[in-house]
Amino acid sequence: MKKVLVIGSGGREHAIVYQLSRSPQVAQIFCAPGNAGIAQLATCVAIPDTDIEQLLRFAQAQQIDLCVVGPEASLAAGIVDAFREAGIPIFGHTKAATQIESSKEFAKQLMARYNIPTAAYRSFDEYEPAIEYVRSRNTYPAVLKYDGLAAGKGVVIAQNQQEADAALRDMLVSEAFGKGKVVIEDYLEGPEFSFMAFVDHHRVYPMPLSQDHKRAYDGDRGPNTGGMGAYTPLPFISAEEEQWALEHILQPVADAMVAEGTPLTGVLYGGLMKTADGIKVIEFNARFGDPETEIVLPLMQTDAYTVFHAIATGSILDNIAWCNEATVGVVMASKGYPGKYDKGAVITGVDDFDGLVLHMGTTVRDGQLLTNGGRVLMCIAHGDTIRKAQQNVYTEIRKINCTNLFYRKDIAHWAL
Ligand code: AMP
Ligand code: GLY
Repeated sequence: MKKVLVIGSGGREHAIVYQLSRSPQVAQIFCAPGNAGIAQLATCVAIPDTDIEQLLRFAQAQQIDLCVVGPEASLAAGIVDAFREAGIPIFGHTKAATQIESSKEFAKQLMARYNIPTAAYRSFDEYEPAIEYVRSRNTYPAVLKYDGLAAGKGVVIAQNQQEADAALRDMLVSEAFGKGKVVIEDYLEGPEFSFMAFVDHHRVYPMPLSQDHKRAYDGDRGPNTGGMGAYTPLPFISAEEEQWALEHILQPVADAMVAEGTPLTGVLYGGLMKTADGIKVIEFNARFGDPETEIVLPLMQTDAYTVFHAIATGSILDNIAWCNEATVGVVMASKGYPGKYDKGAVITGVDDFDGLVLHMGTTVRDGQLLTNGGRVLMCIAHGDTIRKAQQNVYTEIRKINCTNLFYRKDIAHWAL
């Protein structure tokens, strides 16, 4: 019987813990730092997800059989490199491979070198040549991406030269996010979707496609968020298009990363767009998407410990089986999110929800469940069709009460 340590504290990690808890091989799950929902299935350990030394000491003391990493910050801090050196199996990419997410320029260069379809781009580290390029190009909207961590404010879609100028000044002159480069790329149009896969070197095991809803309010209005809901499957992507994206995007990226000496050994998340000119890459992430993972991972029929352990140790999996049931997940977020919001509001009725509720940002005090983040709960229901799954989730979500939460009423509208 196995002992597993999961790193992270959001809905994505709750989905990982939930799926591991269903494995007959798993005897005990620890989660650092975890949340109130995770605590129902795992022992939460109060170690921050980037304190690698302490996490490693804990894993050694507990004789953990496998560690599964959720957040990009832990990967970028080198947790996989440290655990591997200590001989502990760990699911996730090395620090070097995580650059596919943490550096936009690394990702763009890789795609250019290996002919992976994406928007044409140029990169700049100084304001003058950057604005000169924008002027000479004279095509709007223009997409400006700060190359580094910018707390979700790193992408600006400029509608004219004034907007581009203001953004470039922020990014390259006043250095609002620190000293970094800017990638300027062509504006693409079409529906976006998420294509995640487990990747171990050349081996790519695709997960079902899903679609996130990034804007805060109904009708895809309001500010960008981490994601307000997701659903699967996607009626607007055919099986042939999915296969095309696997063969022309995910597989060549896996092969390219091996060729570059930075093989992938975790999740590759393709943020893709179906344009009039074919499917193209908007971005890559080096981790499970959030909230997509909450709806996708519970559909995995192959034992989760077997899958994570095989990827962590380089063993070959036959294939991974998935249930294709229509699934819709709706995020309940704190009022004010993604701007300022309060924490500590009481939540009731979660146990009455007929379906799966995964916790994104909760805590417990004096036996009461409290909000403890911007995105708080992910409420998930199934159905024979997406419409039925949507009806089910919106019927059930009314049972959850909290004066300080809001949610979108139109998750999955693209599919209906
Ligand atoms: P990213 O952080 O690269 O995922 O960008 C955030 C969002 O900006 C994406 O989800 C898209 O909606 C939008 N975006 C990024 N790049 C482009 C592009 N080249 N064309 C159109 N929209 C884009
Ligand atoms: N849902 C988008 C992301 O995880 O980046």
